[in-house]
Amino acid sequence: MLELVVWCAVGAVVARAFLWVCAAAREVLHQLWVTRDIPGPPSYPLVGSFLAVAGPQEELYEKLVALRRQLGPTVKLWLGPVLVIIVSRPRDLELVFTDPRLQAKPWLMYASSLEPCLGAGLITMSGADYRRHRRIIAPSFAQDVLHSFAPAFNANARRLSERLAELAETGEVFDASPLSRMCTSYTVCETVLSADSSRLEEDREAVVKAVYRGVTLMFHRGIRPWYRSDLLFRLSKNYHDYQEMVRIGDTFVSKVLDLKMEAQQQTETARQEEEAEAAAAPSKSRRNKAFLDHLLSSEEGKTLTKEELSGELKHLVAASNSTTSDTLSFFMYCIAIRQDVQDKIVEELDSVFEGDRDREVGLADLPKLKYLERTFKETLRCFAPAPIYARQPDSDVKLPSGVTLPKGCVVVVSPHFTHKDPDVWPDPAEFDPDRFLPENSRGRHPHSFIPFSAGTRSCVGQRFVMMFLKTAAATVLRRFRLETPPGGPQSVADIRAIFSLTLHVQGGAQIRARRRE
Ligand code: HEM
Repeated sequence: MLELVVWCAVGAVVARAFLWVCAAAREVLHQLWVTRDIPGPPSYPLVGSFLAVAGPQEELYEKLVALRRQLGPTVKLWLGPVLVIIVSRPRDLELVFTDPRLQAKPWLMYASSLEPCLGAGLITMSGADYRRHRRIIAPSFAQDVLHSFAPAFNANARRLSERLAELAETGEVFDASPLSRMCTSYTVCETVLSADSSRLEEDREAVVKAVYRGVTLMFHRGIRPWYRSDLLFRLSKNYHDYQEMVRIGDTFVSKVLDLKMEAQQQTETARQEEEAEAAAAPSKSRRNKAFLDHLLSSEEGKTLTKEELSGELKHLVAASNSTTSDTLSFFMYCIAIRQDVQDKIVEELDSVFEGDRDREVGLADLPKLKYLERTFKETLRCFAPAPIYARQPDSDVKLPSGVTLPKGCVVVVSPHFTHKDPDVWPDPAEFDPDRFLPENSRGRHPHSFIPFSAGTRSCVGQRFVMMFLKTAAATVLRRFRLETPPGGPQSVADIRAIFSLTLHVQGGAQIRARRRE
């Protein structure tokens, strides 16, 4: 009898495995057939077109750009049995961003590579859980919450300025990227995490380092499918660094949450005192009640468990830090090369601030800094810091260009493909902020410019980014001129980028600062 039960169990397992293999094979055959006309690099048994993108990390970005150049706006890649389709035409993208069949994130690129480190959160989730979390988180980035960040934006811009003053004094050439990272991380701590700086000071430096290292390590693990297995990853020389980074992130976020929850349990008297203080000094009260406070005090926010909150905070820290600091680094590098663009920014700043170099950047100043905003947009066009993101169709979807995205494939969007398309952006290698003048944007498809993705899964932080970056630039450029040293790149097109989870300046943004007369 026992023998019969064992045989039945084994039979059931084998039958299930067989059905699974048949279903997978059917899906692959269907994908092969449906995408037979999409161009792609040569594909070989087992490895597919892996050889076209394999090699050192420094070369991956250039390889993808070359694929776009050789093969056109829609490219197919077989990575082993996984079909990847890169889509870049704006009309196709419109459907990718808005069609309900394309809202899921592929497990292979998101949950399996990011969740071991960050836990679940907006970036990796799909389905009903995702919609619930987005409904809870998005309102915490509302205009009034963002406005309450202005003092932190100014304080950290000033901190960056002080550091530049020291470097200007010596005249030395320095890499702007670590400075951008420090300025961004402090800002994110004080705004998104609403962290009480004084109680987290000692951890923060470690977190700044861990975030940057973390992005590199998550990418390192993410593009090597065999490292999905913890057992194999333990053999990697990066395993200990990775674990240390996870530990630093977990400890920091847990400490932030504990401090917040402790603050929430203040006695009624203390709260009343705080409210009275807030009534007397509204700007201070708004500063205290920033993003996380807002989230924790909203009715829906209270429904998130500590684990869910911790995951979301780690996602926000990961999503905001590198992308924003990379943009600031590329921006500084671009205007150091393009002195004519920098001159125009300074002209605008002199007019808006009436020559005052020390006044804080007020909320009313930001909309007036139109040329500065165009320069940031042009920086994001040339060096979109989120170089790829992806979706997975839950059924076949036909795009306006006629291409069919088969169910289960990985649809990759790379802003670089779209932003460098000469049919969309004439002379795409030229750095020209005036492309974004209203008269020059007329007739351009809204999905031609996609650094923040678009549609239902677009970046929740894009208004935060522009406010912060404009404040930082307006503070720094009123005081300093940024220059490249002799022998540095002659044009923006000479800047080399390195591809990780985000896009960094290869070799660092080597510049010099000079105090303005
Ligand atoms: C220049 C800076 C930034 C860029 C270029 C950027 C870009 C993007 C892109 C392309 C996505 C979509 C990713 C995907 O579909 O996988 C995204 C999502 C996201 N971003 Fe940003 N981001 C930036 C800054 C920020 C900041 C400052 C925050 C938060 C304070 C933030 C929070 C998020 C979140 C939570 C998501 C997931 C949204 C969702 O799926 O619902 N980002 N970002």
